[in-house]
Amino acid sequence: MQILWLDTIDSTNSEALRRLPELASGTVLSAREQTAGRGQRGNSWFTEAGKNLTFSIVLKWEAGAFPVRDAHWLNYLSSYVVLQFLADHGVQAQVKWPNDIYVGRRKICGMLIENTLGTAGLAASVVGIGLNVNQTVFPQLANATSMALCTGTGLDLEPALEELTARFERALPLLFAPQLFQSYSAHLFQKGVQARYHDLLTDRTYTGIIQGVEADGRLRIRDLDTAEDRLYRFKEVGYIL
Ligand code: BTN
Repeated sequence: MQILWLDTIDSTNSEALRRLPELASGTVLSAREQTAGRGQRGNSWFTEAGKNLTFSIVLKWEAGAFPVRDAHWLNYLSSYVVLQFLADHGVQAQVKWPNDIYVGRRKICGMLIENTLGTAGLAASVVGIGLNVNQTVFPQLANATSMALCTGTGLDLEPALEELTARFERALPLLFAPQLFQSYSAHLFQKGVQARYHDLLTDRTYTGIIQGVEADGRLRIRDLDTAEDRLYRFKEVGYIL
């Protein structure tokens, strides 16, 4: 992959989307500082300049190669790559559906995957990853952690990004392979554990147990209050942590 380092940009995802027509598949835009980093659900992504990895990978798909209904496989792929990278650097992490990476009850990495559509499925994807590497104080965030906080040692950002993106490139052929789904399922945060959830469709909170993820990407939670299983798409359920 070709990595382009930017000193300051509003958001690497926004920049990748603006420059999408001219960027080749496999280009990585990485910022030393983001002034308006974007998170999921319209949230902001705050990170100290020069301390963490904030980057976006541009992927372009052949017509018909990536059906829209399979878009959740990009969550599996990105989570798989980040979890393996962390494990090989001494950090055991899990994936909080759909694609937050947690160590214990603290978030170490967030992802924002944005797709453009063609006439037959996805045309391009921008996989935005914010991985906390060397930051040790998180003033605005109560539940954040970083690799440095987990291991006690820092990492040089440039070689770390080279390694991560090389791993991503090697993992790309695994898209749609059962191995990816199995790895994702095996690392699912709070799977089999009794916890509180907020059903955003009915605005009801309940005690439930995550059973796993369906082949179509939906999260299955057993509702212990009603003894029913509930299936959720993205943005339909919240974790009460
Ligand atoms: C989330 O957890 O809400 C997703 C956070 C995603 C942050 C990354 S940082 C690099 C890329 N550029 C952005 O503006 N956002 C993503």
